[in-house]
Amino acid sequence: MEDLPRRATPDDLSRVNLGDPQTFADHDLSDYWRTLRASRPLYRHPAVGNSPGFWVLSRYDDIVALYRDNTTFTSERGNVLITLLGEGDSAAGLMVPVTDGHRHKELRNVLLQAFSPRVLSRIGEHVRRTTRTLLAAAVDRGACDFALEVASKIPMATICDLLGIPPQDRDYLLTLTKSAISSDDQGEYSEAADAARNNILQYFLGLVEERRIAPQDDVVSVLANSTIDGEPLSEDEIVLNCYSLILGGDATSRLAMIDAVHSFSANLDQWAAFKSGEVSAKQATEEVLRWASPTMHFGRTVVQDTEIHGTPIPAGDVVTVWNVSGNRDERVFADPNRFLIDRSPNKHIAFGHGPHYCIGAYLARVEISEMLLALRDFTTGFEISGPVHRIYSNLLTGISSLPVRFEPVSAEVEELVL
Ligand code: HEM
Repeated sequence: MEDLPRRATPDDLSRVNLGDPQTFADHDLSDYWRTLRASRPLYRHPAVGNSPGFWVLSRYDDIVALYRDNTTFTSERGNVLITLLGEGDSAAGLMVPVTDGHRHKELRNVLLQAFSPRVLSRIGEHVRRTTRTLLAAAVDRGACDFALEVASKIPMATICDLLGIPPQDRDYLLTLTKSAISSDDQGEYSEAADAARNNILQYFLGLVEERRIAPQDDVVSVLANSTIDGEPLSEDEIVLNCYSLILGGDATSRLAMIDAVHSFSANLDQWAAFKSGEVSAKQATEEVLRWASPTMHFGRTVVQDTEIHGTPIPAGDVVTVWNVSGNRDERVFADPNRFLIDRSPNKHIAFGHGPHYCIGAYLARVEISEMLLALRDFTTGFEISGPVHRIYSNLLTGISSLPVRFEPVSAEVEELVL
């Protein structure tokens, strides 16, 4: 999808179909979200074809309140539109993002054990080295497709480190995840993708057996050797939670890094402030996350009759929350439609909030800030040098192809790598 100027939202709100990836490809929805936030904070999205209607929350405070409350709302019938309006999620009750209650808390705690400071520091070091090596090579070449040649290589390498995937298996797993996830991005079913997903799960089963015998410092070992309420995790739970790290952590971080380059090239004053050291990478990273909001929405199903803005919402209804809108809420962010890297405070909701708050937030922040630091150290600037292509999705937003020309710093870039 090329980044042509997109049309503004139609005046008739009900003509915007949030379930259709084409809507996001064709339209700039800023006016739509502004209108909903101002006058329809609880909006009933109409049913379209066989797809039932659902509720839409667009204000920051309402979104945070829903994320917080996993008693009135559940993720166990899916947490994104495609599953919420379809057949539900087959991993419900097994995989952390689509499990609630006691089991969710326990499973999440098991996963978190694998994110120990020692492991995170080792992985952070690896992220730094990979990022600087890839970017140095790209700057040396003078130009590249930043999305394909740099950003796409970092998150999967990071997740493989976290999972403890042996180096010789990584290319195999990468090929499988590409074909498993590409159809998810498009919201389509494909047999090849289904087969690839099965092969990934099979692969993890094999690795689980190895790690039971010889545990290491990685997620697979932790999952394979943990118990909840005195019982070991089931095989399904182990492999699905390994897979959930790939699902949660690959495209999201990649899209945020790509957006950083795109946004800096369109806001040269912000690049100058970052390059001069006036603003830290830590602070700039938060604005990149708010601005990019790679996951546009999440959602829940109501399990106890409730009320939002005075409207009764019965059990069984689907309520969606739109991070893309909450992160531009003028009630919370001054000048929300400007990319301002020294924004403070910046309590964005790119990682969600509450009991399902993103487990990978620390790693995603490391990936983005290392990329910013490498850009600052190796280039004086960069510009977009060709057509930009956007991804096609109703869940994720961002760029899949970004041709960039770099202006290298005068020193030999290779000497600056580490
Ligand atoms: C949960 C966004 C990176 C793994 C979430 C949620 C959001 C989110 C909004 C909440 C979902 C919900 O409430 O239903 C992002 C963004 C990222 C990112 C924008 C990058 C910029 C990562 C990474 C990993 C990861 C790097 C893994 C290494 C997960 C998992 C959950 C989650 C496992 C489920 C947590 C739970 O349900 O308790 N993420 N994520 N994410 N994320 Fe991330």
